[in-house]
Amino acid sequence: MTAGEEDVETSPFDTRQLAGTSDGPVLEVDDLRLHYVTRFGKRVQAVDGVSFSLREGEILGIAGESGCGKTTLVSGCMGLLIPPLFRSSGDVRVAGESLLGKTLEQTRKDVLGRKVSMIPQGALNSLNPTRKVGDLAADMILSHDESTDRQQIAERLSERFSRIGLDARAVLDSYPVQLPAGTKQRVVIGISTLLNPKVVIADEPTSALDVSTQKAVIRLLFDLMDQGIIASMLFITHELPLLRHVSSKIAVMYAGQFVEFGTTEQVIFDGRQPYTRALMGSMLSAERGQRDRKPVSIEGAPPNLANPIAGCRFAERCPVAREDCKASEQPLRLVADRHVRCNHAQ
Ligand SMILES: Nc1ncnc2c1ncn2[C@@H]1O[C@H](COP(=O)(O)OP(=O)(O)O)[C@@H](O)[C@H]1O
Ligand SMILES: [Mg+2]
Repeated sequence: MTAGEEDVETSPFDTRQLAGTSDGPVLEVDDLRLHYVTRFGKRVQAVDGVSFSLREGEILGIAGESGCGKTTLVSGCMGLLIPPLFRSSGDVRVAGESLLGKTLEQTRKDVLGRKVSMIPQGALNSLNPTRKVGDLAADMILSHDESTDRQQIAERLSERFSRIGLDARAVLDSYPVQLPAGTKQRVVIGISTLLNPKVVIADEPTSALDVSTQKAVIRLLFDLMDQGIIASMLFITHELPLLRHVSSKIAVMYAGQFVEFGTTEQVIFDGRQPYTRALMGSMLSAERGQRDRKPVSIEGAPPNLANPIAGCRFAERCPVAREDCKASEQPLRLVADRHVRCNHAQ
């Protein structure tokens, strides 16, 4: 119990509970395992036992090199398991309701855009160039409620686009190609969040953007959270230091698993898992105490997830690996108040 909570009595008429929005987690990922089946019948275990939960107002950053399973985890969090991707075990719930096990059609109608929404990776080029912004945005509303009439849609779009700082009338009447890059970015985010999704997932939304545009994107996402338009966010990136300015918690992912999970401060400035440290060390960073440091690349590449791996998955590349690292499973355990997957970390 934290300070201030002592006096609060739980009333049977608590409006939050009447409205069906308890204080429980918005997103729960429960020991999730996902695999691809390749053309040659091989199984690629791209997500291998990931668990976490996200509460209202929280932003979780997930960082790891390319090929670690970040985008696969995102597919699971959207309930989008399209062959050759399959659930091996585990579950994903939003506001208590499981997303897995629905048909693709149900997922498109009930989940995407409404419960979970994704900011597309190539955000600038994700708008269909042949249609006006107003029509593209209207599609988002109509895909979930065909009965909404034109007038209602126009009012909703106008209100929302103005609220996110756009000249609504001009923008809605334009083709994407007529808009400057920053505006287009805002439009993409505006459309993705039109239905006030519980969870917004940004999968490397800022790669290939210049620094000032990156900052603008992140600021806009914060704004949307402050205004209560979106409840929580997953921010995925291969640039761990970037998360310093974005998330409150960080999970570092390697070979389909979380290898360190803690607060942003713990993970960025005091990482205890050798991969976390290597990942921080491999990035140029303007952070405190790091300015004169030269980045050191991590030798080798993440393991091929089509093959079983004995013991620690990072051992092959780990600068402090010991004889016994490959001998045993490395479970997540509590080290210095955060979770770390390394039997030797202190
Ligand atoms: N369609 C697919 N078939 C087989 N393996 C795949 C497929 N898509 C991705 N993978 C593999 O799954 C692993 C995780 O990929 P991904 O989730 O895209 O990682 P990240 O987003 O971290 O770069 C990689 O080893 C990748 O090669
Ligand atoms: Mg990816």
